[in-house]
Amino acid sequence: MENQHNMAKDILNAPYMVEMIRTASNMYDHGWDERNGGNISLMLDEKEVSPYLDISAVIREVPTGFDAPTLDGRYFLVTGTGKYFKNIKYAPEINLGLIRIKNSGRTAELLWGYSDGGRFTSELPAHLMSHASRLTVDTKNRVVMHCHPANLLAMTYVHSLDEREFTRTLWQMCTECIVVFADGVNVLPWMLCGTNEIGVATAEKMRTARLVVWSQHGIYGAGNDLDETFGLIETAEKAAEIYMKIAHLQIKNTITDKQLKLLADRFGVSPRQGYLDV
Ligand code: 13P
Ligand code: ZN
Repeated sequence: MENQHNMAKDILNAPYMVEMIRTASNMYDHGWDERNGGNISLMLDEKEVSPYLDISAVIREVPTGFDAPTLDGRYFLVTGTGKYFKNIKYAPEINLGLIRIKNSGRTAELLWGYSDGGRFTSELPAHLMSHASRLTVDTKNRVVMHCHPANLLAMTYVHSLDEREFTRTLWQMCTECIVVFADGVNVLPWMLCGTNEIGVATAEKMRTARLVVWSQHGIYGAGNDLDETFGLIETAEKAAEIYMKIAHLQIKNTITDKQLKLLADRFGVSPRQGYLDV
């Protein structure tokens, strides 16, 4: 009789693993993840993990350094700290890890990956706290994604960081924006990254929007799957690109608030309360 290990399917063929690798490669190809820039966490159900791994076989335990009591027992596929997105497709087992959370969030049990002795992203506080926060408003949330797209980053040097103004500007840059992120974009001032403090602040901002800009650093997106979250950041970054192309020119036309309202009504979305003057 085969033992459990022999019977397990190869996790590299798991649909979520394939999708994670494709997404990371795509993000790299978009120029959003230079060097080790950016990180992704994907929440998984036990039933998605158990066909591939012996879930009682913990490779090692790693302290997280923060509390996330609502996430105990949850599984996450997470990019490794210091790892390059461009390398994930060539060596997923080194650059990714699959962890399970316990001890009120204070311990991560490694079940697969980080095979060179590495560990999860330094931004795990922002990721896990954001997961916990998004799950309170959307039980289907599974993804938190962070990256450094050039135009959104550039915008934080030249545009007001007021969330309403920042959101309105992006909505005005492409017709689809208000449809894709009707909840708007929240903005944090520059803060030291990799800390519990920026994690708490990001999670708080995630209560009211799925996009959170880290000024002079990058952006966080949250969503129900990798594709949707990628698309969310992609749309905001496209809008920021238009802004950076036109901000220094004389603006002759724009999308009016009345037109934004028409779009919201047509596509059945509710724009962030108080953000439109109509
Ligand atoms: P990690 O390499 O620890 O994931 O950090 C990258 C990053 O973007 C920090 O904000
Ligand atoms: Zn970063």
